[in-house]
Amino acid sequence: MSTPENYSLAKSLSLDPQCDQILASLSEPEAEALLWSWRFNARPAQILPGTEGAAIQIADWVFWLVLAGRGFGKTRTGAETVREWAANPNERILMIAPTADDVRSVMLEGPSGLLNCYPSGSKPQYNPSRHLVEFPSGAIGITRSAEEPARLRGPQFTKFWADELCAWNYPQDAWDQIMFGFRLKTPNLQGVITTTPKPLPVLKALMADSSTVLTRGSSYDNRDNLSEVFYQKVIKPYEGTRLGRQELNAELLEDIQGALWTRKLIDAARIKRSDIRWELIVRIVVAIDPAVSTTDESDETGIGVAMLARSGHVIVLDDLTCRESPGEWAKIAIAAYKARRADRIIGEVNNGGNLVEANLRAAKDGDKVAFRAVHASRGKFVRAEPVAALYERGMVHHVDSGLEKLEDQMCSYVPGVSRKSPDRLDWLVWAVTDLVIDPEIMTMQTQIGEMIQISPI
Ligand SMILES: Nc1ncnc2c1ncn2[C@@H]1O[C@H](COP(=O)(O)OP(=O)(O)OP(=O)(O)O)[C@@H](O)[C@H]1O
Ligand SMILES: [Mg+2]
Repeated sequence: MSTPENYSLAKSLSLDPQCDQILASLSEPEAEALLWSWRFNARPAQILPGTEGAAIQIADWVFWLVLAGRGFGKTRTGAETVREWAANPNERILMIAPTADDVRSVMLEGPSGLLNCYPSGSKPQYNPSRHLVEFPSGAIGITRSAEEPARLRGPQFTKFWADELCAWNYPQDAWDQIMFGFRLKTPNLQGVITTTPKPLPVLKALMADSSTVLTRGSSYDNRDNLSEVFYQKVIKPYEGTRLGRQELNAELLEDIQGALWTRKLIDAARIKRSDIRWELIVRIVVAIDPAVSTTDESDETGIGVAMLARSGHVIVLDDLTCRESPGEWAKIAIAAYKARRADRIIGEVNNGGNLVEANLRAAKDGDKVAFRAVHASRGKFVRAEPVAALYERGMVHHVDSGLEKLEDQMCSYVPGVSRKSPDRLDWLVWAVTDLVIDPEIMTMQTQIGEMIQISPI
């Protein structure tokens, strides 16, 4: 949270009643210099530990681990730290991002990237094909992608910046390569690691290392500098979720013992929305799990879209779960049916009779949708288990955004222990069951498999 002790000098000045006079007294070059001064703009948690103004006043560290939520300013902190180090002509700084694309479009050229930390006219020279940055002082930057751990071993360096360590493909491998010989060299070796956490052994070891200084921070610490779009698109979906404790508050979450799904399981098969090959999709369903009562505040109507690809794999596309009146959720489901050109809407009938269908038919264009009622004759666990098994076989793929709350429910649902029935999980189980597990559909899928060459998506 933003409190005076973690304000930047810029923010403290802006709250000073004399602010306008102070600013007016500055010459143009002085004002320009302030604008580009990291020490003036950084919050104490973003300043190199052991130096003036830093939140951490320990100087003899080797690793500075900045473990913070989305949008905290991790990348900017890493980039500005590199900029400070690079004032010394003798430094050779290794910079590692999760992918080659991240190296260029986030670390170097992104809005919080290194090149944007310098005013025009004094920017370092970046040579992407040589993976090289030449700083005005004479210091050298070497860029690497964590995708190729073997390539991390070669370069000699004096400092390093590792961005999003927990998002690297082979974090332990890549880390070991960076560490190879690291401590044997000069005593002023230091590295800054900026990342949101995941419960990975490499991160836990780094946190436990006696030469690590740790900065923790939340997304809200940087609220002043985040655009409304970033806030709505990135921060908002996590609010109130278990995953939000990790992604926004940087807590290290362990998987829940006994849960049917784990983050690792879901992440392992994740795909980008932009990588979906729509021509290979053979069936799309919208599934609905209605709230039992609209007055119960905690009850949501689970609505979502999932699709079957020719290969028999499932793609989970949209979670549209809402807390709305029957008229409103019917509109949402029909809109999704149309927008996604779905084959049908499926809805549960048990204690509410055929409420879902009646409700859909009453809505505008509801008479035009294809509908199938499904019956919860078997217990939730019995229905959820084969769906979880499909995930374990790598057959179900989540897209990379918009499913945070659904995944949260999936990873905290412990059969026989969880009391409340999770509404989002319910629509998902219905949808996947309809697409691949239901015997009627299984037959259809086999026929499709016979007719068409099966290829993995
Ligand atoms: N102290 C600061 N003063 C002004 N702007 C800042 C400060 N810290 C960060 N920012 C800006 O806030 C925005 C988000 O910062 P940044 O991209 O570094 O966050 P992040 O934690 O790396 O986010 P993500 O989780 O998306 O990787 C950027 O525009 C960055 O320049
Ligand atoms: Mg970042």
